[in-house]
Amino acid sequence: MTGSDHSREAGGDHAARLRASFTAQATTFEEPSLNAAFTSALDWIVEAAAPRTTDRCLDLAAGTGLVGRALAPYVADVICVDATPAMVAQGRSAADAAGLDNVAFVLGDATTPVVPPASIDVAVTRFSLHHVPDPRALLRALVDACRPGGRIVVHDLATSREPATAARQDAIETWRDDSHLRAPVLGEAAEVLRELGAAVDRTEQRTYTRPLEPWLEQAVTPPERAARVRAAFADELAGGTPTGFRAEQREDGVWFTQTWELTVAHRP
Ligand SMILES: C[S@@+](CC[C@H](N)C(=O)[O-])C[C@H]1O[C@@H](n2cnc3c(N)ncnc32)[C@H](O)[C@@H]1O
Repeated sequence: MTGSDHSREAGGDHAARLRASFTAQATTFEEPSLNAAFTSALDWIVEAAAPRTTDRCLDLAAGTGLVGRALAPYVADVICVDATPAMVAQGRSAADAAGLDNVAFVLGDATTPVVPPASIDVAVTRFSLHHVPDPRALLRALVDACRPGGRIVVHDLATSREPATAARQDAIETWRDDSHLRAPVLGEAAEVLRELGAAVDRTEQRTYTRPLEPWLEQAVTPPERAARVRAAFADELAGGTPTGFRAEQREDGVWFTQTWELTVAHRP
Protein backbone atom coordinates (compact mmCIF):
# COMPACT_ATOMS: atom_id res chain seq x y z
CA MET A 1 0.00 0.00 0.00
CA THR A 2 2.20 2.81 -1.26
CA GLY A 3 1.60 6.14 -2.91
CA SER A 4 3.61 4.94 -5.90
CA ASP A 5 0.96 2.29 -6.63
CA HIS A 6 -1.06 5.05 -8.12
CA SER A 7 1.48 7.81 -8.69
CA ARG A 8 0.14 8.44 -12.17
CA GLU A 9 -3.23 9.03 -10.51
CA ALA A 10 -1.95 11.36 -7.82
CA GLY A 11 -2.58 14.52 -9.80
CA GLY A 12 -5.63 16.13 -11.27
CA ASP A 13 -7.12 13.19 -13.16
CA HIS A 14 -8.00 11.22 -10.09
CA ALA A 15 -9.12 14.28 -8.14
CA ALA A 16 -11.47 15.21 -10.97
CA ARG A 17 -12.85 11.66 -11.22
CA LEU A 18 -13.37 11.53 -7.45
CA ARG A 19 -15.23 14.81 -7.38
CA ALA A 20 -17.41 13.87 -10.37
CA SER A 21 -18.19 10.44 -8.94
CA PHE A 22 -19.17 11.63 -5.48
CA THR A 23 -21.00 14.70 -6.76
CA ALA A 24 -23.20 12.21 -8.62
CA GLN A 25 -23.42 9.90 -5.58
CA ALA A 26 -24.25 12.62 -3.02
CA THR A 27 -27.97 12.01 -3.49
CA THR A 28 -27.90 8.21 -3.82
CA PHE A 29 -25.74 7.97 -0.66
CA GLU A 30 -28.69 9.27 1.35
CA GLU A 31 -31.36 7.34 -0.60
CA PRO A 32 -32.73 4.53 1.62
CA SER A 33 -33.61 2.29 -1.34
CA LEU A 34 -29.95 2.33 -2.48
CA ASN A 35 -27.75 2.91 0.57
CA ALA A 36 -28.43 -0.16 2.73
CA ALA A 37 -24.79 -1.23 2.49
CA PHE A 38 -23.77 2.08 4.05
CA THR A 39 -26.42 2.16 6.78
CA SER A 40 -26.75 -1.50 7.74
CA ALA A 41 -23.28 -1.88 9.24
CA LEU A 42 -23.03 1.39 11.15
CA ASP A 43 -23.39 -0.42 14.47
CA TRP A 44 -20.25 -2.45 13.63
CA ILE A 45 -17.96 0.59 13.43
CA VAL A 46 -19.71 2.47 16.26
CA GLU A 47 -19.30 -0.49 18.65
CA ALA A 48 -15.67 -0.91 17.61
CA ALA A 49 -15.01 2.76 18.37
CA ALA A 50 -16.22 2.18 21.97
CA PRO A 51 -17.49 5.77 22.17
CA ARG A 52 -17.48 7.74 25.44
CA THR A 53 -19.36 10.94 26.19
CA THR A 54 -16.15 12.97 26.47
CA ASP A 55 -14.65 11.76 23.18
CA ARG A 56 -13.56 14.13 20.42
CA CYS A 57 -13.90 12.19 17.17
CA LEU A 58 -12.60 12.52 13.63
CA ASP A 59 -14.19 10.87 10.59
CA LEU A 60 -11.82 11.11 7.59
CA ALA A 61 -13.18 10.90 4.03
CA ALA A 62 -16.52 11.01 5.81
CA GLY A 63 -18.70 11.49 2.75
CA THR A 64 -22.12 12.58 4.03
CA GLY A 65 -20.97 11.74 7.55
CA LEU A 66 -23.02 8.58 8.00
CA VAL A 67 -20.41 7.23 10.43
CA GLY A 68 -19.80 10.56 12.15
CA ARG A 69 -23.53 11.13 12.57
CA ALA A 70 -23.95 7.62 13.99
CA LEU A 71 -21.21 8.33 16.55
CA ALA A 72 -22.49 11.80 17.44
CA PRO A 73 -25.14 10.83 20.05
CA TYR A 74 -22.51 8.96 22.11
CA VAL A 75 -19.60 11.44 22.07
CA ALA A 76 -18.68 15.08 22.74
CA ASP A 77 -18.18 16.05 19.12
CA VAL A 78 -17.28 14.77 15.67
CA ILE A 79 -15.34 16.44 12.85
CA CYS A 80 -16.20 14.99 9.42
CA VAL A 81 -13.69 15.74 6.66
CA ASP A 82 -14.39 15.12 2.99
CA ALA A 83 -13.03 16.35 -0.34
CA THR A 84 -16.32 16.44 -2.27
CA PRO A 85 -18.43 19.58 -1.74
CA ALA A 86 -21.72 17.87 -2.64
CA MET A 87 -21.13 15.09 -0.06
CA VAL A 88 -20.28 17.67 2.62
CA ALA A 89 -23.41 19.69 1.76
CA GLN A 90 -25.62 16.56 2.00
CA GLY A 91 -24.02 15.64 5.31
CA ARG A 92 -24.51 19.11 6.78
CA SER A 93 -28.18 19.22 5.86
CA ALA A 94 -28.77 15.68 7.18
CA ALA A 95 -27.06 16.57 10.48
CA ASP A 96 -29.13 19.76 10.73
CA ALA A 97 -32.34 17.86 9.97
CA ALA A 98 -31.47 15.38 12.75
CA GLY A 99 -30.71 18.20 15.19
CA LEU A 100 -27.10 17.05 15.63
CA ASP A 101 -25.29 20.16 16.86
CA ASN A 102 -22.01 18.39 17.73
CA VAL A 103 -21.02 17.39 14.17
CA ALA A 104 -18.83 19.73 12.11
CA PHE A 105 -18.17 19.21 8.41
CA VAL A 106 -14.88 20.32 6.89
CA LEU A 107 -14.23 20.37 3.15
CA GLY A 108 -10.66 19.18 2.61
CA ASP A 109 -8.12 16.50 1.83
CA ALA A 110 -8.12 13.79 4.49
CA THR A 111 -4.51 12.80 3.80
CA THR A 112 -3.18 16.09 5.17
CA PRO A 113 -3.62 17.20 8.80
CA VAL A 114 -6.89 18.97 9.55
CA VAL A 115 -6.67 18.89 13.36
CA PRO A 116 -3.72 19.47 15.72
CA PRO A 117 -1.63 16.33 16.28
CA ALA A 118 -2.69 14.10 19.20
CA SER A 119 -5.93 16.05 19.74
CA ILE A 120 -8.49 13.32 18.97
CA ASP A 121 -9.83 10.41 21.08
CA VAL A 122 -11.39 8.38 18.25
CA ALA A 123 -10.34 8.56 14.58
CA VAL A 124 -12.26 6.55 11.97
CA THR A 125 -12.44 6.08 8.25
CA ARG A 126 -14.77 3.89 6.23
CA PHE A 127 -14.85 2.84 2.56
CA SER A 128 -12.15 5.40 1.78
CA LEU A 129 -8.78 3.67 1.37
CA HIS A 130 -9.75 2.34 -2.05
CA HIS A 131 -10.37 5.88 -3.31
CA VAL A 132 -7.09 7.55 -2.32
CA PRO A 133 -3.84 7.48 -4.32
CA ASP A 134 -1.87 7.29 -1.05
CA PRO A 135 -3.83 5.19 1.46
CA ARG A 136 -0.82 5.07 3.81
CA ALA A 137 -1.07 8.87 4.14
CA LEU A 138 -4.73 8.54 5.11
CA LEU A 139 -3.87 5.93 7.76
CA ARG A 140 -1.02 8.14 8.98
CA ALA A 141 -3.47 11.05 9.32
CA LEU A 142 -5.65 8.86 11.59
CA VAL A 143 -2.70 7.83 13.77
CA ASP A 144 -1.23 11.35 13.98
CA ALA A 145 -4.59 12.87 14.94
CA CYS A 146 -5.00 10.52 17.93
CA ARG A 147 -3.77 11.28 21.41
CA PRO A 148 -1.81 8.45 23.08
CA GLY A 149 -4.44 5.85 23.96
CA GLY A 150 -6.77 7.18 21.28
CA ARG A 151 -8.67 4.60 19.21
CA ILE A 152 -8.47 4.13 15.45
CA VAL A 153 -11.10 2.21 13.48
CA VAL A 154 -10.81 1.46 9.77
CA HIS A 155 -13.59 -0.25 7.83
CA ASP A 156 -13.04 -0.96 4.16
CA LEU A 157 -13.53 -3.41 1.36
CA ALA A 158 -10.93 -6.19 1.51
CA THR A 159 -9.74 -8.00 -1.57
CA SER A 160 -8.36 -11.50 -1.85
CA ARG A 161 -4.78 -12.32 -0.83
CA GLU A 162 -4.53 -14.02 -4.22
CA PRO A 163 -3.20 -11.22 -6.53
CA ALA A 164 -5.04 -12.23 -9.72
CA THR A 165 -8.35 -12.39 -7.87
CA ALA A 166 -7.69 -9.06 -6.15
CA ALA A 167 -6.89 -7.48 -9.53
CA ARG A 168 -10.17 -8.79 -10.97
CA GLN A 169 -12.11 -7.48 -7.95
CA ASP A 170 -10.47 -4.05 -8.28
CA ALA A 171 -11.15 -3.97 -12.04
CA ILE A 172 -14.86 -4.65 -11.52
CA GLU A 173 -15.06 -2.08 -8.71
CA THR A 174 -13.37 0.49 -11.00
CA TRP A 175 -15.79 -0.21 -13.87
CA ARG A 176 -18.59 0.43 -11.41
CA ASP A 177 -17.01 3.62 -9.97
CA ASP A 178 -13.96 5.00 -11.78
CA SER A 179 -12.75 6.74 -8.61
CA HIS A 180 -12.01 3.28 -7.15
CA LEU A 181 -8.24 2.73 -7.29
CA ARG A 182 -7.22 -0.30 -5.25
CA ALA A 183 -8.83 -1.85 -2.18
CA PRO A 184 -6.57 -3.15 0.60
CA VAL A 185 -6.09 -6.89 0.67
CA LEU A 186 -7.18 -8.74 3.80
CA GLY A 187 -4.98 -7.72 6.72
CA GLU A 188 -3.23 -4.91 4.85
CA ALA A 189 -4.73 -2.00 6.82
CA ALA A 190 -3.56 -3.64 10.07
CA GLU A 191 -0.09 -4.21 8.66
CA VAL A 192 0.28 -0.57 7.59
CA LEU A 193 -1.13 0.76 10.88
CA ARG A 194 1.52 -1.30 12.71
CA GLU A 195 4.24 0.12 10.45
CA LEU A 196 2.96 3.60 11.35
CA GLY A 197 3.38 2.88 15.05
CA ALA A 198 -0.20 2.02 16.02
CA ALA A 199 -0.99 -1.02 18.17
CA VAL A 200 -3.54 -3.21 16.38
CA ASP A 201 -6.10 -4.68 18.78
CA ARG A 202 -8.05 -6.83 16.35
CA THR A 203 -9.38 -7.29 12.85
CA GLU A 204 -12.82 -8.64 11.98
CA GLN A 205 -14.24 -9.69 8.65
CA ARG A 206 -17.81 -9.78 7.38
CA THR A 207 -19.26 -10.77 4.07
CA TYR A 208 -21.95 -8.63 2.49
CA THR A 209 -24.15 -10.27 -0.13
CA ARG A 210 -26.02 -7.79 -2.28
CA PRO A 211 -27.96 -7.44 -5.52
CA LEU A 212 -25.97 -6.18 -8.49
CA GLU A 213 -28.36 -3.64 -10.02
CA PRO A 214 -28.85 -1.32 -6.99
CA TRP A 215 -25.05 -1.37 -6.51
CA LEU A 216 -24.64 0.05 -10.04
CA GLU A 217 -27.54 2.46 -9.58
CA GLN A 218 -26.12 3.83 -6.32
CA ALA A 219 -22.81 4.64 -8.07
CA VAL A 220 -24.63 6.14 -11.08
CA THR A 221 -22.44 3.92 -13.28
CA PRO A 222 -22.59 4.96 -16.97
CA PRO A 223 -24.27 2.40 -19.24
CA GLU A 224 -21.15 1.19 -21.07
CA ARG A 225 -19.25 0.52 -17.83
CA ALA A 226 -22.32 -1.07 -16.22
CA ALA A 227 -22.45 -3.40 -19.22
CA ARG A 228 -18.83 -4.49 -18.56
CA VAL A 229 -19.68 -5.25 -14.94
CA ARG A 230 -22.77 -7.25 -15.91
CA ALA A 231 -20.72 -9.12 -18.53
CA ALA A 232 -18.07 -10.07 -15.95
CA PHE A 233 -20.73 -11.56 -13.65
CA ALA A 234 -22.48 -13.27 -16.57
CA ASP A 235 -19.16 -14.80 -17.59
CA GLU A 236 -18.57 -16.17 -14.10
CA LEU A 237 -22.12 -17.58 -13.96
CA ALA A 238 -21.49 -19.29 -17.30
CA GLY A 239 -18.41 -21.01 -15.91
CA GLY A 240 -15.86 -18.44 -17.07
CA THR A 241 -13.39 -16.28 -15.11
CA PRO A 242 -14.31 -15.93 -11.42
CA THR A 243 -15.04 -12.34 -10.41
CA GLY A 244 -13.81 -12.91 -6.87
CA PHE A 245 -17.32 -11.91 -5.75
CA ARG A 246 -19.06 -15.30 -5.94
CA ALA A 247 -21.84 -14.32 -8.38
CA GLU A 248 -25.22 -15.98 -7.79
CA GLN A 249 -28.21 -16.02 -10.10
CA ARG A 250 -31.34 -15.51 -8.01
CA GLU A 251 -34.97 -15.13 -9.07
CA ASP A 252 -34.70 -11.34 -8.88
CA GLY A 253 -31.35 -11.07 -10.68
CA VAL A 254 -27.63 -11.39 -10.00
CA TRP A 255 -26.28 -11.12 -6.47
CA PHE A 256 -22.68 -11.13 -5.32
CA THR A 257 -20.61 -11.04 -2.12
CA GLN A 258 -18.03 -8.53 -0.97
CA THR A 259 -15.69 -9.00 1.97
CA TRP A 260 -15.41 -6.14 4.42
CA GLU A 261 -12.72 -5.79 7.05
CA LEU A 262 -12.75 -3.80 10.28
CA THR A 263 -9.41 -2.95 11.88
CA VAL A 264 -9.35 -1.69 15.46
CA ALA A 265 -6.15 -0.11 16.76
CA HIS A 266 -4.92 2.47 19.24
CA ARG A 267 -2.05 4.88 19.50
CA PRO A 268 0.36 3.64 22.19
C1 LIG B 1 -17.42 5.55 -0.57
S1 LIG B 1 -17.46 7.17 0.13
C2 LIG B 1 -17.45 6.77 1.88
C3 LIG B 1 -18.06 7.86 2.72
C4 LIG B 1 -18.13 7.55 4.21
N1 LIG B 1 -16.80 7.31 4.75
C5 LIG B 1 -19.04 6.38 4.50
O1 LIG B 1 -18.54 5.28 4.74
O2 LIG B 1 -20.27 6.58 4.50
C6 LIG B 1 -15.81 7.74 -0.12
C7 LIG B 1 -15.62 9.21 0.24
O3 LIG B 1 -14.23 9.47 0.31
C8 LIG B 1 -14.03 10.82 -0.08
N2 LIG B 1 -12.61 10.99 -0.35
C9 LIG B 1 -11.83 10.27 -1.18
N3 LIG B 1 -10.56 10.70 -1.14
C10 LIG B 1 -10.53 11.71 -0.24
C11 LIG B 1 -9.50 12.54 0.26
N4 LIG B 1 -8.22 12.43 -0.15
N5 LIG B 1 -9.82 13.47 1.19
C12 LIG B 1 -11.08 13.59 1.62
N6 LIG B 1 -12.11 12.84 1.17
C13 LIG B 1 -11.83 11.90 0.25
C14 LIG B 1 -14.98 11.00 -1.25
O4 LIG B 1 -15.25 12.36 -1.50
C15 LIG B 1 -16.20 10.22 -0.75
O5 LIG B 1 -17.11 11.07 -0.11
